[in-house]
Amino acid sequence: MKALLILFVLMNLDKLLKTARCIETQDQILSITPKTQEQVDILKNISTQYETALWQPASHQFIKEETEVHLFVPANSSATVEDLLQKHAITHQVLLANANELIEMQTRNVSTDPRSGATFYERYHSLEDIYFWINRTQHERPDIVKVILIGSSYEKRPLYVLKLSVNNRPNKKAMWIDCGIHAREWVSPAFCLWFVHHSLSFYNLNEDMRNILDNMDVYVLPVMNPDGYKYTWTTNRMWRKNRSASRSSNCIGVDLNRNFDANWCTEGASDEHCTEIYCGAFPESEPESQAVANFLRRHKDVVQIYLSIHSYSQMLLFPYSCTLDETENHNELLEMVQIAAQKIRRYYKNNYKYGSGAKTIYLAPGGSDDWAYNLGIKYSFTFELQDRGRYGFLLPPSHISRACNEALTAVKTIALLVIEKT
Ligand code: ARG
Ligand code: ZN
Repeated sequence: MKALLILFVLMNLDKLLKTARCIETQDQILSITPKTQEQVDILKNISTQYETALWQPASHQFIKEETEVHLFVPANSSATVEDLLQKHAITHQVLLANANELIEMQTRNVSTDPRSGATFYERYHSLEDIYFWINRTQHERPDIVKVILIGSSYEKRPLYVLKLSVNNRPNKKAMWIDCGIHAREWVSPAFCLWFVHHSLSFYNLNEDMRNILDNMDVYVLPVMNPDGYKYTWTTNRMWRKNRSASRSSNCIGVDLNRNFDANWCTEGASDEHCTEIYCGAFPESEPESQAVANFLRRHKDVVQIYLSIHSYSQMLLFPYSCTLDETENHNELLEMVQIAAQKIRRYYKNNYKYGSGAKTIYLAPGGSDDWAYNLGIKYSFTFELQDRGRYGFLLPPSHISRACNEALTAVKTIALLVIEKT
């Protein structure tokens, strides 16, 4: 009898373990729309006092009535948070009940799974893999790709830029693309790799790609915040800022997209170290932002287009984010992103919002796009890639190709429009 029981357990071990795992609470993502000021205040309190991570908006100070909040709640705080929400009659929806599984899915090395048809570019890669890829790409295509070291991070990791250049035409202009300013936005570095791969593969096959590369060089910084990116792979998937320490606080990290010299640290940024939008001790206090700013200052006469890739929320943004004022070429920029958004809608049946940063999302001073614009790079953009919150930062690898192709459509549209103009 005992033997039979043991046999039964062994035969069903797999199933039994699975049921056990389902019952156990996982990290979840909640969608909450506060209806009253009281609910706003409670939500602000929850997101700052408890072990949670605000996905949307970037900081608790932007939480307001009738706007959807996305909150990551780790398993160990979920009971407390649910209680608080219930007590104050704050209705909420579970956006994702299985965040742990999704994180696992994002980090699994699918290449070892023979059933998977996913290519290298349809997966997320560790920082080490990306450094290896940079090196390999340069060795495979030395005719087109040069690697430039533009500086190093706070923890002394190299910041490499790939320069794509197909000919030595005199007076060639250039486009700059950076990815991975914010650590947890994994689809962003994936896009930079996608873009380089696409450029190299389609130069000979696609007329638009050839037109772009014949007329401009492209500088690609795949991971602007390598310390933060590494940290999201090893320690905390929800990390946003860089990893710099300061003597005056125990909290680590500066928001690199609040650290540039554009109405630095005014409304929409914070001088508190512990917030997700901490602006740093002074403009360009961080080695990562300083490296990018120095490089662009040296190349400002050739760089016509500045592009910064983020996620998520599906938006094509342009300056200003640091003020509600319009730029001198506001209508021109608006028209460009409108055309790009239309193309995405036509090809991929997906909607992207567009407009100036401050009017489309919120005031966010110290951003790289505004700074680049004021430096004289008049075609300056920030893209927020997929999705709109279904998976948020945990976008499954199977969505990478669509997300990147949508962004690629926007990049190509804008580059071609700028080439046409000049
Ligand atoms: N989600 C991005 C951020 O909060 C928006 C960037 C828009 N541009 C800007 N300069 N803030 O950083
Ligand atoms: Zn971002």
